[in-house]
Amino acid sequence: MLISLTVNDRRYSLEVDPSMRLVDLLRDVLGFTSVKEGCSEGECGACTVLLDGRAVTSCTIMAFQADGSEILTVEGLESLGELEPIEKAFIENDAVQCGFCTPGMIMSVRALLSKNRKPSEEEAKRAIEGNLCRCTGYVPIIRAIMDAAERMG
Ligand code: FES
Ligand code: FES
Repeated sequence: MLISLTVNDRRYSLEVDPSMRLVDLLRDVLGFTSVKEGCSEGECGACTVLLDGRAVTSCTIMAFQADGSEILTVEGLESLGELEPIEKAFIENDAVQCGFCTPGMIMSVRALLSKNRKPSEEEAKRAIEGNLCRCTGYVPIIRAIMDAAERMG
């Protein structure tokens, strides 16, 4: 199938197999390896990206379903060589351990902060409830979200 989509501000038109998932397209075809695959069942959130501004698990969406969409991954956050505030907040609050969950977490946080610049801790927790951290570093992650909100506010 021929599809067209925008990933991190760059437009792509390409043939995809109807059975290809969005995570495969992003990682294996386009090389956006920040998108991690953990459970492959929509349960861990490691593969979270923004699709038209909404946080989605890219392992549960077929590539052809993203036809005409705008996708954002962590690779698209940096601008002019500068990390964006959410990334800085994660690093400076020690919210990254092995880092496997981090790109998906950051995209969920980005979706939250694009709608709500002053989230409560409860709202921050809810925003990442679909993102599992196997290193269980949730306390610094919530601290990083609150810090990122302040930096962006
Ligand atoms: S790999 Fe997609 S939700 Fe776990
Ligand atoms: S930092 Fe290791 S899984 Fe979250």
